[in-house]
Amino acid sequence: MKKNILIIGGSGLVGNKIAQILAKRNNDYIILIGSRKGSSEIARQIQIDVNDTKSFDIIKKQRIDLIVLCTSDKINNILSYCIENNIDYLDITKPTPDLENSYQLAKSKFINSKIVFGSGWMVGLVSSLAFFTIPKTENIETIKLLVYYSINDLAGKSSAYFMAENVAKPFKVYKQNKAILVKHFMNIEKHNFKFDLGKRKCYNFDTPDLFILNQIEKIPTVEVKTTYSSKAITLLLHYFQVIKLFQILPLSVRKLLFSANGNGDQTVFDIVIKTSNITKTISLQSVLGQAYLTAFSTVLNIEKTIQTQNNGLYFSHQLFEPNEFYNLINSSETINIKKDFQ
Ligand SMILES: NC(=O)c1ccc[n+]([C@@H]2O[C@H](COP(=O)([O-])OP(=O)(O)OC[C@H]3O[C@@H](n4cnc5c(N)ncnc54)[C@H](OP(=O)(O)O)[C@@H]3O)[C@@H](O)[C@H]2O)c1
Repeated sequence: MKKNILIIGGSGLVGNKIAQILAKRNNDYIILIGSRKGSSEIARQIQIDVNDTKSFDIIKKQRIDLIVLCTSDKINNILSYCIENNIDYLDITKPTPDLENSYQLAKSKFINSKIVFGSGWMVGLVSSLAFFTIPKTENIETIKLLVYYSINDLAGKSSAYFMAENVAKPFKVYKQNKAILVKHFMNIEKHNFKFDLGKRKCYNFDTPDLFILNQIEKIPTVEVKTTYSSKAITLLLHYFQVIKLFQILPLSVRKLLFSANGNGDQTVFDIVIKTSNITKTISLQSVLGQAYLTAFSTVLNIEKTIQTQNNGLYFSHQLFEPNEFYNLINSSETINIKKDFQ
């Protein structure tokens, strides 16, 4: 049966890639692109503003089955609309505090569709790959995500603005189930990335996996660290945080600072998973970079959301068996996975 899928923010960097990959893989989806500008010339582009609920009438007219949210909707207008109208929802946009709010909101409602939170790093990849690596999740004591971010990679405005808005705010990491407030680009850890990037200095970084893995999946210790391809820039960001420069720089300048953007480069991350007696690492490299990886992972989530029978509240990784997700993500020719275990 044909399914009508609306990608809000679908004209942006990630949304556009999602639409392309989805269309290539599925003939039976009708894909609509929503944005504030819309277009009367391009078929299936519709005008919708997440901040203007009057613009949502078109969703009913077009009989949308699933909304994929690819633009920030801080006050959850689209989430509320989907819950009220029994429409499936997949959201890849929420920074950690917003995800916590959206989850609380959804939990307080009667859910008669599939509501999927895909805001974890690269849309649920970390939880899925960690649980693929050690399926007995109750034995896992620590999960650490280490992200290599190339300054030559492509990033949409929204992704860059996320860093600008949040860089000066403390966030929670979890150590033995105790929430500890930390700041971005602090607390150095040297890490040797498995994809031949050498030993690099990594610093604190906030991704929603911290909340998902500790508060939802009950992993006692969860940390995320990042390093930039330029060692000088990594160090500079650390020193800016040390001297509290981010706190006094206006948002417009911080936006400029994080908007540096190349033509595309690889993205790499390692996930280190520990039990009381073993440590395993699983590493992923996306040759086509972060936007492609996000888009491909979102497409897998869209397909699975549509196939899933039971209505309810899901975090992305909960849609899949870890093994199933591993095979799907590994099916892309431009995504490489190394397992430091057999
Ligand atoms: N989960 C993950 O791992 C992950 C990874 C990367 C990115 N992301 C998230 O994905 C989202 C998209 O990133 P991006 O880099 O593709 O951003 P982008 O290139 O800036 O695109 C944003 C899109 O949203 C539309 N838009 C902006 N405000 C809107 C509004 N009020 N109502 C409707 N549409 C609106 C824009 O078009 P108009 O100007 O025409 O409205 C544009 O098409 C961001 O929220 C980012 O944080 C998540």
